Amino acid sequence: MGRYSDQVGRRRTFAIISHPDAGKTTLTEKLLLFGGAIREAGTVKGRKASKHAASDWMEIEKKRGISVTSSVLEFRYRDCHVNILDTPGHQDFSEDTYRTLAAADSAVMLIDCAKGVEPQTIKLFEACRMRGIPVFTFVNKLDRQGKDPLELLEEIEEVLGMRSCPMNWPVGMGADFCGVYDRDNRRLIRYERGAEARKIDTEGAGDSRIRQEVGDVLADRLEEEIELLDIAGDPFDMEAVRNGKLTPVFFGSAITNFGVETFLDTFLDLAPSPGPRSSDQGSINPEDERFSGFVFKIQANMNPAHRDRIAFLRICSGRYERGMTVNHVRTGKGIKLALPQQFMAQDRSAVEEAYAGDVVGLFDPGHFQVGDTLCERGRFRFERLPQFPPEHFLRVSNKNAMRYKQFQKGLVQLVEEGAIQRYRTFLEGMDEIYIGAVGELQFQVFEYRMKNEYGVDLILDRMPFRFARWLKGEVADPSRLVYRGHTRCVKDSRDRLVVLFTSEFYLSTLEEENPDLQFLKLAEG
Ligand code: G4P
Repeated sequence: MGRYSDQVGRRRTFAIISHPDAGKTTLTEKLLLFGGAIREAGTVKGRKASKHAASDWMEIEKKRGISVTSSVLEFRYRDCHVNILDTPGHQDFSEDTYRTLAAADSAVMLIDCAKGVEPQTIKLFEACRMRGIPVFTFVNKLDRQGKDPLELLEEIEEVLGMRSCPMNWPVGMGADFCGVYDRDNRRLIRYERGAEARKIDTEGAGDSRIRQEVGDVLADRLEEEIELLDIAGDPFDMEAVRNGKLTPVFFGSAITNFGVETFLDTFLDLAPSPGPRSSDQGSINPEDERFSGFVFKIQANMNPAHRDRIAFLRICSGRYERGMTVNHVRTGKGIKLALPQQFMAQDRSAVEEAYAGDVVGLFDPGHFQVGDTLCERGRFRFERLPQFPPEHFLRVSNKNAMRYKQFQKGLVQLVEEGAIQRYRTFLEGMDEIYIGAVGELQFQVFEYRMKNEYGVDLILDRMPFRFARWLKGEVADPSRLVYRGHTRCVKDSRDRLVVLFTSEFYLSTLEEENPDLQFLKLAEG
């Protein structure tokens, strides 16, 4: 037992992954209500702002004001200290969305029962799988007609390749929705529009009390389905949940606040507190007394008047104290952590102390890059954050040759910061620069910042490529990887070979033609 094991044991740091409109804002708000972090619904600024055109970004940022506070929502519930990390969607979708998952210890996958597993959920799920973190599923909007629940489970298994174990089971849906049956406690949690949920203890799914409540048709169906799940379904297996192999599934309706409290209670019981993290000097224990953490996100231009940036630091061990001095491992300098901020639902407030699992926002006049490690003693580095495959590409050049230096400087800095990825062509006598991004909004932000921070006007041309693969293996003649107009061989900012593709077809063609090469989705090393 370390000195901080009590504090660490109370932390639950997770992200909600979902496709836009599945109800993430609504669910988050309900969770905050339980935690007493907000007093009334409607307080959390939703992603509604993101429904504006992406070009409104700066305006949105200004108006939102609290976007930094909504990046991490922190509240106490029971004896737990809960940190919800926001994973922006819509046009806000970017590498930050993925990187946030590197800072989370588990994820809640929110699925709209009518839509099932949607594209953005799949992408985010894959990022969770890479880290092997536990994923808990909440199937939302049961008050509306949706897909058959068994079909939804099948979809999770088929599309995501994840086994599932329903913790509760819906009784009816849409207009017929009568509640959920809690399998473990053999309890019907009764839903009635406009009323508080009632808990009815039973002897099992076939109990006559259920029949009285929901009628014969739904009761028969429930009995049948529970029997099927008991016989043919995956049993609950904590080990498999912890390893990210099995997802516990909960059904509910966030907007009517149905099923949210039981979900939260069970989730907090099952979800892991911060665990050890890998570094180049072995694994770092969260209860280790020496403070350490890594920067997983940098948010720039929160306030254009001050040009301030906030570096988000996920604490991995020890105790953070205001004003402490730590080693900035990359630069080798000592750095004083002044003016940090912790994030409450409403206000930015100064943090006095924080522990593994917590996130602090550090005022950043340009000291930090995404992936930087800070530690109190020693000089280890946490594992590098993976670089995610961009899906959008632009050719970029400088409008005014006189500003060449600024152009180069801006590019280098924004790439280092993780705002965009940079590639250059080198074959066929071409010397062009491309930028790649996971989300389109990153380009807008890039263009805006190049102009405002570096005084550079850009010429941007859209490229037809849809994805990138990093090459592993000996490439004797890179020109053999070129299908004019369909693939392009480039180097990334760390001089690694990358092929850009317009379609899957050319990827499989190149894979067939080059069996000794591997085409990796994520950059290694
Ligand atoms: P997001 O953050 O994932 O994008 O979703 P958000 O919470 O904004 O919810 C998207 C829409 O789904 C909202 O409706 C919201 O009210 C609705 N919703 C969320 N949870 C439930 C639920 O359990 N049942 C039902 N029936 N609807 C739900 P909207 O019409 O887009 O916005 P609003 O006018 O209601 O705010």
